[in-house]
Amino acid sequence: MTRRPYIVGNWKMHGTRAMLSEARAIDRAAQRHMKVEVALAPPYTLIHPIHREAEQIAVGAQDCHHEDGGAHTGDISAAMVADAGASFVILGHSERRQDHGETDALVRAKAGAAFAAGLRVIMCCGESLQTRESGGAVAFVRAQLAASLPPADQLPAEVADRLCIAYEPIWAIGTGVAATTDDISEMHGEIRALLVELLGADHGAEVRILYGGSVKPDNAHAIFAVPEVGGALVGGASLTADSFMGIALAASDPLES
Ligand code: 13P
Repeated sequence: MTRRPYIVGNWKMHGTRAMLSEARAIDRAAQRHMKVEVALAPPYTLIHPIHREAEQIAVGAQDCHHEDGGAHTGDISAAMVADAGASFVILGHSERRQDHGETDALVRAKAGAAFAAGLRVIMCCGESLQTRESGGAVAFVRAQLAASLPPADQLPAEVADRLCIAYEPIWAIGTGVAATTDDISEMHGEIRALLVELLGADHGAEVRILYGGSVKPDNAHAIFAVPEVGGALVGGASLTADSFMGIALAASDPLES
């Protein structure tokens, strides 16, 4: 890994202010693991409170609207999450695609809005179990990613610092069964090849590719040893400092885990 491993917690729809103590514990622990970049994407309501106290970790949003503002009741723009203290946004998560019918085109528009607001983007992709079992996983993920990312000429110049990909096979999310290291290796290699095609050799080689889907302290070490894994997007195991930082520890120093 040329860049520091990037370990991002996606709290999904979990967390009230009672969880601030956990975020504080994660922030304190992150100060002891400087070889790893640790970040949290809490619900919108906790972005500002966590950002205000955090000394080490970056705070992000789990989604944003594709327009700057207007008559969109209940929606939140990229500029608003940036104003609350978010430095990045997760886009195209399979739960957004499933629960809210988000299409590749919409996700692409959101990415454009996020970059324009100065945010970093974690762009998610991943196939269903049915697609994997039919043998179409690689073709699906390549097409989904190519259609969800803005065209290369609309990406920021410093794209390797601003964009990160998260491969999250839907069947591995929240199931306790992560993808095998062979499956991860194959898909991350394909994503790397696609990034080089889309962004050119220099930028395409540098964008980090995270794995997500049932990452836990006890499988993190093996996952981080897979070529082209630049970190993890963690759901359930990011909800406590103990398990989340167990994953960060595995990324920080494989010998310690
Ligand atoms: P789990 O780690 O709970 O499987 O969730 C993964 C995920 O969806 C992160 O975005």
